[in-house]
Amino acid sequence: MNETFGNVPASRTGISTTPAHRAFFKAIPKVELHCHLLGAVRHETFIALAEKSHAPIERAEIDAFYTRGEKPVGVLRVLRALDEYLLTDADDLRRITYEYLEDAAAHNVRHAEFFWNPTGTVRVSKIEYGDAQAGIVAAIRDASRDFGMSALLIPSIDREADPDEAVTLVEWMKSHRADEVAGIGVDYRENDRPPELFWKAYRNAREAGFRTTAHAGEFGMPWRNVETAVELLKVDRVDHGYTIVDNPALAAKYAASGLVFTVVPTNSYYLRTLPPEKWAELHPIRRMPGLGLKIHPNTDDPALHKVNPSEAWELMFSHFGFGISDLRGFMLNGIDGAWVGNVTRDAWRVQWLNEFDALAAQLP
Ligand code: HPA
Ligand code: ZN
Repeated sequence: MNETFGNVPASRTGISTTPAHRAFFKAIPKVELHCHLLGAVRHETFIALAEKSHAPIERAEIDAFYTRGEKPVGVLRVLRALDEYLLTDADDLRRITYEYLEDAAAHNVRHAEFFWNPTGTVRVSKIEYGDAQAGIVAAIRDASRDFGMSALLIPSIDREADPDEAVTLVEWMKSHRADEVAGIGVDYRENDRPPELFWKAYRNAREAGFRTTAHAGEFGMPWRNVETAVELLKVDRVDHGYTIVDNPALAAKYAASGLVFTVVPTNSYYLRTLPPEKWAELHPIRRMPGLGLKIHPNTDDPALHKVNPSEAWELMFSHFGFGISDLRGFMLNGIDGAWVGNVTRDAWRVQWLNEFDALAAQLP
């Protein structure tokens, strides 16, 4: 991990990551709040789905998707290919959801909230919303039974599409209510697609009792998008949000309000744009806790970025220089940011802190 992510040696932080540390990062109880279902499709499942649907994608091309770092095509285009060629019925969605949750559970993710873009499924894959959602919800229930975890689905707005499609998405959600479908998000390319375009979908979702989150301040897009997501869309939490570091006054405001930011140490924008030897030092994630912001580390697209939840936590320690007590705080931030009831939240706070402290006491 230390060699592969931006060549920043762990010794820069003065701390080396031992096997005991790796075991610790894996063992700590986790929530995952920022993961895209299509970015979590296993390599072998991608191949199997491509064969099943006779997709016009060469095996070498698929293998190239599943590499860390520079890719021949961007991740977002791989996700579009999944919609276009690979997903053909609700059982495909059920399969990839179950496998994602199985992989997350193997890293002690006890609760996952994950994104899925219904407009691609409905418009491109030609699977009806109700069928698709039912397939994903069935997998959540199976995973809950088999792995003892909980999970919530976040249907997410494709911000490259027409904002009216986002309004329609909320209508679909209202007519297919399920306890596992918690709220909405917005993702895909943020450039030229600021949050205000989607005010109506967010208003309708809130009025219908759904929770809300939004990708904002990603791809170097300005802090104003974070402000708009919070003040206009009234989101409950923020995905990425890195450019808030450019506006310390706004950061102070959101620090005081306790807003949770789901951050992604492997976010490809910074891997691409920062000099490799300074990547981890200059990364805005490093500065966010110093501004008082509540952050929580996540994988985003684990299969395509070749990162798992344990490694996302490890990077916070090995590359961004946070200590074990900082990670303890990040764990609490995740619990605070999760869309679970207060009884569950309070129980997790007590139980997970006990587990975390017992595991930390065994570190060298
Ligand atoms: N940002 C926006 N859209 C996405 C991402 C992301 O990190 N991953 C998958 N879809
Ligand atoms: Zn994301």
